[in-house]
Amino acid sequence: MKRFLFIIGSIAGLTAFFAFAPQKPRVARTGKELFERYCKQCHGKDGTRGLFGAKNLQTSLLADDALYMTIAKGRKVMPSWEKKLDSTEMGLVVEYVKTLRK
Ligand code: HEC
Repeated sequence: MKRFLFIIGSIAGLTAFFAFAPQKPRVARTGKELFERYCKQCHGKDGTRGLFGAKNLQTSLLADDALYMTIAKGRKVMPSWEKKLDSTEMGLVVEYVKTLRK
């Protein structure tokens, strides 16, 4: 009987654990937050900083797919982001970069 109660107790405990376990926290969610975290140091908040020859993102005219590939694969000094950001996050960054254009 004790053993039986132990098993029931364990199942209830595990169920409660999975039901109430906190979701994995996601820190940055918007394109702006991602940009300010990962891109600002070279490109600047408004896209014009140009550190290490970083392209001015206000005058960049890349199409969405080229923008996405640049972010995913990187270019010269610019690192590749595909291991750090998932495709949704890279999509958000693409949308945000376009809002910097003048
Ligand atoms: C370590 C500095 C650095 C960081 C961090 C960085 N970049 Fe860059 N980025 C560069 C450099 C340098 C270039 C120019 C590469 C070249 O000469 O072709 C560039 C080019 C680009 C271009 C191409 C623009 C064009 O018109 O050709 C885009 C778009 C871009 N970066 C977006 C981003 C985004 C978005 C992030 C953040 C996820 C980011 N970069 C992070 C340095 C950086």
